[in-house]
Parts: sequence; C-alpha cells; structure tokens
Amino acid sequence: MKILHQKTDMVAVTKAWQGSGETVCLVPTMGNIHRGHLALIERARKTAERVVVSIYVNPTQFGTDEDFDSYPRTIDTDCDVIAAEGGCDVIYAPTGLYDAAHATNIIPSGVALPMEGEARPHFFVGVATVVSKLFNHIPADFAIFGEKDFQQLAVIRQMVRDLDINISILAHPTIREADGLALSSRNQYLTPAQRRLAPKIYAQMQNTCALIKNGTDINTAICLAKDQLQKTGFGRIDYFDLREPDDFQLCDKPTAASRVFVALWLGSTRLIDNCAIG
Ligand code: PAF
Repeated sequence: MKILHQKTDMVAVTKAWQGSGETVCLVPTMGNIHRGHLALIERARKTAERVVVSIYVNPTQFGTDEDFDSYPRTIDTDCDVIAAEGGCDVIYAPTGLYDAAHATNIIPSGVALPMEGEARPHFFVGVATVVSKLFNHIPADFAIFGEKDFQQLAVIRQMVRDLDINISILAHPTIREADGLALSSRNQYLTPAQRRLAPKIYAQMQNTCALIKNGTDINTAICLAKDQLQKTGFGRIDYFDLREPDDFQLCDKPTAASRVFVALWLGSTRLIDNCAIG
C-alpha cells in the first residue's frame, strides 16, 4: 500500500492505471477508520481494479464551535487497519488542500437546503468543495459514500450531475453495531452511559417506521418518538422527520422508500442517522 501526499503524484498514478485499462474507485474519508469505512473499501475492491482511500480531516466542513481540533487523527493506525483488512492500492493523505489564497467554494442548493443545511449551514459548502477537489486529485471512475450520511450522498450526486463531473457515485448501506447504533467516528466521544443510551435512536426510528406503516398519523408517531428520546436523556433534537429520499421534502403520504432522518445531541455529541420505512 502506497501513501501519497501530493496532488501531482495522485493524478499521475490514477491516470497510469486508467491508461492501462484499469478502473479506479475512491473511498473518501476523514480517517479514524472503522468497520463502516472498511465495508466501503471492501465494496470498492469489488467495484474496480484499483482502490484509493483518501484521508483528510477537512476544516471547511466544521463550524467554528464544532470538533475540528478534537476530531481523531489516527493516520498510522488507519493504515494498519486498512492493510490488515485487505488493503487498498493507495492511501491519499493530501497536505495543504487549501492555501491562504483559497477563495472559491461550491455552494450547493436543492437537496442541501433542509436538515443539515439548516442546522449546519457551512457543512455542505465544505463537503462539496473538498469532494470536488478530491475528484480532481483522484479522477477515479467510481466513488463510494455511506448511506449513514444520506443527505451528503444526495448532495454529492447532485453536484456530480450539475457540474458534469465524470464519476459514478455508489451508495453503501449503513453499518451498525449489534445494538443498532450506526457506526460513526463520533461514537467514541460518548461516555459509557451515553453509549448505552445511543441505540435508542435506531430503536425509536424503527418504532416510528412500524407505527406509520400500521397507519398511525406521521406527526403523532414523530412527536411520540421525540418525546420518548427526550424523556430518556437525549438533548436537543435538530430534526426527526419523515422525508422523501430524492428531494428531502417532508412526507405526507409515506411509501416504502420514505425515510426517517434524525439529528440529535447526546451530551456534547451530535449524532445523525436515517432509515427507510421499508
Ligand atoms: O463523510 C465524510 O467522511 C466526509 O464528509 C468526506 C466525504 C470525506 C468529505 O470530507
């Protein structure tokens, strides 16, 4: 496994592979590799002949009061974990993606506006801008994103379509702990007591889906879930909604594809999750 840091090297390696007829799949990450990322990497290995994992903690997607400084940076362990679990061809850990003169950002609209767009207005600007830079550094055939960040996946798809970027975006289902908690690097911020509470998010999402499927009014089911979560010790709920998966509009007539989307606080940790009614 090679580790590259420079754009020129990464572009050259990608083009050389493609020049000899090999396809390339990118797995963009911010490091702190866990089983969720490993599932994306495994899928990438099945998708293309060559796999690049990018590791970059992107400052522009963090707000000033968010966890950029404390976000776990574990590049050495990440390389070991990836190597032990089947590996990839290149780990790309770019240095200096933004210089002092950086003055151009992608400001996504459309699917970026509700939910995370309202709660964290800087977030998708940072994500879209860095992902478009990564797509220039690694002009891959495919890139894989997890459905845990379902709205992020939709924002990337929208950007690729709107800006005619020549890459196929693949989605991979959310990987969960045995108790239902969606894997996330931020889970490690939880205290043992909070960690015991955290699976209630998925349990409430599932309960909401079951109630709605059985005919309970959407607002009633959602109010019940929010109430239960707050009674058990969760903090502010940024959103707990049933929405359409393509345009993220609030849902009034649920279908199997409608999704519950949740973002809430447990102590000082913000967790997000989503699932389809099914
Ligand atoms: O999902 C993530 O880890 C990040 O938002 C991404 C896509 C790597 C961009 O920094």
